[in-house]
Amino acid sequence: MIGKLNHVAIAVPDLAAASASYRDTLGAKVSEPLDLPSHGVTTIFVELENTKLELLHPLGDESPIAKFLERNPGGGIHHICYEVADIYAARDKLESDGMRVLGDGEPSIGAHDKPVLFLHPKDFNGTLIELEQA
Ligand code: CO
Repeated sequence: MIGKLNHVAIAVPDLAAASASYRDTLGAKVSEPLDLPSHGVTTIFVELENTKLELLHPLGDESPIAKFLERNPGGGIHHICYEVADIYAARDKLESDGMRVLGDGEPSIGAHDKPVLFLHPKDFNGTLIELEQA
């Protein structure tokens, strides 16, 4: 079921500073900020040869990233995204194996205009997992 690592998402307290350190210090290709109001985040993508990073910053009052940054003021890894070929088949397999899919269990459209689901971190060793239909 599980495919490639699509991205690692890092919550950052200062998007401009984080972007500058990846672009100027590490020499990575870094996108402009993109607001995703439905996910409560502003994202910047960092393109690496074999995968991407997503720098996440809270957007709006209900942002899931705001609480994370309260607990981790310096930022930290927020989630890891794996690709799957069929998100509905993946969801059904996970649920039948007793894993918890967050929200109402229906895929939403993620940062790359593709369907995504999130899995409960307690079912995966404390790691929030995003599945994206590739
Ligand atoms: Co993500």
